[in-house]
Amino acid sequence: MDKILIRGNGALNGTIPISGAKNAALPLMIASLLTRDALTLENMPRLADVDALISILSNHGVDYRVHGKRAGDDAMTGRRIEFQAREIVDTTAPYDLVRKMRASFWVIGPLLARAGIAKVSLPGGCAIGTRPIDLFIDGLEALGAQIDVEGGYVNAKAPSGGLKGGHYVFPKVSVGATHVLLMAASLAQGDTTIENAAREPEVVDLANCLSAMGAKISGIGTSTLRISGVSSLHGARHEVLPDRIETGTFAACVAMTGGDVLLKGARASLLEAALDSLKSTGAEVETGNDGIRIRRNGNELQPINVTTDPYPGFPTDLQAQFMALATKAKGVSHITETIFENRFMHVQELARLGANIDVSGQTATVTGVDKLSGAPVMATDLRASMSLVIAGLVADGVTEVNRVYHLDRGFELLEDKLSAVGANIERITGG
Ligand code: EPZ
Repeated sequence: MDKILIRGNGALNGTIPISGAKNAALPLMIASLLTRDALTLENMPRLADVDALISILSNHGVDYRVHGKRAGDDAMTGRRIEFQAREIVDTTAPYDLVRKMRASFWVIGPLLARAGIAKVSLPGGCAIGTRPIDLFIDGLEALGAQIDVEGGYVNAKAPSGGLKGGHYVFPKVSVGATHVLLMAASLAQGDTTIENAAREPEVVDLANCLSAMGAKISGIGTSTLRISGVSSLHGARHEVLPDRIETGTFAACVAMTGGDVLLKGARASLLEAALDSLKSTGAEVETGNDGIRIRRNGNELQPINVTTDPYPGFPTDLQAQFMALATKAKGVSHITETIFENRFMHVQELARLGANIDVSGQTATVTGVDKLSGAPVMATDLRASMSLVIAGLVADGVTEVNRVYHLDRGFELLEDKLSAVGANIERITGG
């Protein structure tokens, strides 16, 4: 199993290109099931989750073609991948494929809308909470689907003549269930209204792509989405938006080490809450046409108070990384997680590096320490793993991050990007 070794060695300086967003790329790929035409996605990141979803989609009949580099592309330029589902050849998403990644469960929406039937294994994914599927079931039932759960599978059937428009009010904001309802309602007969919909930028990206495919959606970017179903969707070309979580993660790296780094291609409007928290640590954030520049020179890190919330609040996917920052702040920080009930697994690993963190319920109280020391640590989930890398960048000695496959799920060319700005980070393959 690969591991990453990091030797804390001071400030980061230079440019880091920001990749296409994993959490936009995945639902966009799934949207290719909705049409027999080709959906071409630009700026696709090279990630294990993208590869895993390609296998799942292939099983349903999606052909894909990865386009070669174009003039001016460098190793870090996103790829263009064309997806085409001429026919749905299989409406079952089996356990072996779905258990590895929760997002693969989302195929239930397009399969049901286009083929009228879907049998999808209950999902897996990062172990950050119980992650139920009740909202998916209730939402799809509001569109007329008949659903039962048996033997670890969700069996869903559309009424004869297909899904019908409906009205669904989310009792709790869910990104995944909003993606699924948007896709399903796009091909339903009649009008659908979704209230208390997720407003995450990745939902907006999917809605924009569906619109380019011929869907009739209004209220994009608000919590009320109205969809007038159409009988078929067509192909389109769509560019995946920049990854706001990767942006916030590298911003936290620079705030931690000090230095001056341009996050090229990053879009500040996608992560204002996180950038505000970063500024309160004393880091400078400058937004320009080419990206976001993060600087910290000499001044000490100030403590932060962060509570995760659905967008536009502070993202749960940056909670662990900002906790890493807080471990070195001059004072006491409070970090509250409200989205997932088990998303503090990084706490005990950060403690191995010398962090002082006390957890009570959903709040972590972090008392900054002068010094972190390298140690072997274990990546527990995708974002938590990055908190260990961030701490490792300033720890004395060597931090050895094990179970790196978590990182490979969602951070493209991580070691290359950090090495290029001066970090001492290397991957040891195998072992
Ligand atoms: C998406 O997960 C992201 N994944 C997550 O990122 C992210 O943390 C999360 O949204 C919140 O922003 C992808 O986009 C692939 P939810 P999702 O449904 O859709 C509860 C990462 O590291 N809930 O918005 O699975 C649920 O348990 C990942 O990239 C129900 O109760 O999250 C949670 O408490 C990790 N019933 C809350 O809603 C349901 O039927 C929000 O979950 C569905 C969800």
